[in-house]
Amino acid sequence: MFTASLHILLLSSILTTQETAAMVAGNVSGSVDPNGFCYCTVSYPDLTFPVDRVEQLEMLSVSLSTTVERELIKIQEFASKLSIHENRMQNLTFRVETMENDVVSYSELDFELLKLEIRQMESLTNKMKATVADSNGIIEQLSTELKNMTLAITKLEKFDKNNVLAIRREVVALKKRLERCQEIRNQTNPTQPPIVYGSCNHGLVSNISEPFVVQLNWRGFPYKAGAWGRDPAPVPPKKDLYWQAPLGDGRFMDYYRQYGSFDDLLLYKNPKDYQLGSGHLAQGSGMVMYKNNLYYNLRDSRNIRKVDIDTNGIVLTKELPGAAFNNRFSYSGTPWQDIDLAVDESGLWAIYATEESTGNIVISKLNETTLSVEKTWVTGQYKPAASNAFIVCGVLYATKTITTRQEEIFYMYDTKTNQDTKISIPFKKVMEYLHGINYNPPDHKLYVYNDGYLITYDLSFYPKNTNS
Ligand SMILES: *[C@@H]1O[C@H](CO)[C@@H](O)[C@H](O)[C@H]1NC(C)=O
Ligand SMILES: *[C@@H]1O[C@H](CO)[C@@H](O)[C@H](O)[C@H]1NC(C)=O
Ligand SMILES: *[C@@H]1O[C@H](CO)[C@@H](O)[C@H](O)[C@H]1NC(C)=O
Ligand SMILES: *[C@@H]1O[C@H](CO)[C@@H](O)[C@H](O)[C@H]1NC(C)=O
Ligand SMILES: *[C@@H]1O[C@H](CO)[C@@H](O)[C@H](O)[C@H]1NC(C)=O
Ligand SMILES: *[C@@H]1O[C@H](CO)[C@@H](O)[C@H](O)[C@H]1NC(C)=O
Repeated sequence: MFTASLHILLLSSILTTQETAAMVAGNVSGSVDPNGFCYCTVSYPDLTFPVDRVEQLEMLSVSLSTTVERELIKIQEFASKLSIHENRMQNLTFRVETMENDVVSYSELDFELLKLEIRQMESLTNKMKATVADSNGIIEQLSTELKNMTLAITKLEKFDKNNVLAIRREVVALKKRLERCQEIRNQTNPTQPPIVYGSCNHGLVSNISEPFVVQLNWRGFPYKAGAWGRDPAPVPPKKDLYWQAPLGDGRFMDYYRQYGSFDDLLLYKNPKDYQLGSGHLAQGSGMVMYKNNLYYNLRDSRNIRKVDIDTNGIVLTKELPGAAFNNRFSYSGTPWQDIDLAVDESGLWAIYATEESTGNIVISKLNETTLSVEKTWVTGQYKPAASNAFIVCGVLYATKTITTRQEEIFYMYDTKTNQDTKISIPFKKVMEYLHGINYNPPDHKLYVYNDGYLITYDLSFYPKNTNS
């Protein structure tokens, strides 16, 4: 006799251990009959194998696992989308914060970009809401934050519209108007030609610079009166000619000096000194040098003397008709300058006064060859009330003293229109009295003898045809 046992194993990932135990087969017993045949009785436990159920379960398992895989993939997608979302959210938050903290540096473009990104993220969030069950409310939170951010941006933009962006737009509009204005100006009023030195393609004197101190005159501090300048038209081979004429006792000039260049003048190098001599002294600080000749008021007379400065020889002496002399009508603060000679773009002039003009300034254009008067203008300005005068492009400018350090161009007379005008162009001086003022057309400078100091000023002019 023997015992056999049968085990049935069902392997399924989805069956429980209890079910497995219930399926184990039961006991077998055997016996032998008289003929020697062996009988075995197999007794099974009372159960029927549920093949159909197993099949069902197996199918369910497969479908379940595919579902789970699908769900897993969805969850992975969701997770990666979520991390992208979170990054963008952080980026946006950072940018909104930056904008909130820094009011000035953002532009309209920044707003537009942010708004666009937020709109993109909103549509993405809505798609995710539709496809994935929002088990722990992350998407809902994202959505709320997005709405929050949109609000913040709108607020920011509204706040800014009143300030930076509004101002920016105004600036842009102003620029456009300016351009339009310029276009119109370009069409109607062609740009002014540049001012050509030595010519009169410009308007009236508009301003005068700070004084530029060149040096003390070569004879020293006691020589407070005198004149100096630069020949506007040096005669070749001379390229340049600077001259100084200090008055010995505030009245007469005996010695005068020339330099061939500004550098020589500054370094006291290669001077040429000449003496006029006792019978030929110049009186007052009204002398001028022009085309290699020195013009001056001969002492104790109304004569004008012309001297060739290469030979120191007298070229011509000529009376200036009616001119007052010997300190009758000099300038205030600078005695003995009854006859003030001047040079402008058109040549030689005399500024003086007569008894007939009752001491008012008289202007005469002189022929430099003959020293005869070509034309005369009588102004309305009393000469002793002015401190000095010079002529630019046929216009006389007179100065007066404001303080010991301030002077003013206060009066002008235009010989082309016979009109005089009160003006006010104040300027500084280093010492109290301006003795000789000589205008030099080629460099638009005034050469001023200021109590022994040689100083210069630069003149500025209005453009042509605008005198305001
Ligand atoms: C088989 O059955 C006999 C009697 O029916 C019992 O005595 C024996 O213990 C059983 N064996 C097993 C392995 O269950
Ligand atoms: C935000 O994103 C933009 C464009 O995607 C990138 O240029 C910028 O550096 C990011 N800023 C931060 C703080 O991550
Ligand atoms: C929305 O923004 C406000 C302040 O800007 C903040 O207090 C609040 O917590 C934000 N809400 C969310 C959901 O981010
Ligand atoms: C006007 O003319 C000036 C000088 O020629 C030029 O520089 C400028 O661009 C012009 N402006 C316009 C708006 O045409
Ligand atoms: C005139 O010149 C003076 C001295 O250089 C300067 O201070 C002043 O601003 C100028 N005035 C004008 C209207 O240009
Ligand atoms: C100056 O006078 C001379 C001689 O009379 C004459 O030839 C010359 O043309 C005059 N000059 C001017 C600028 O009138």
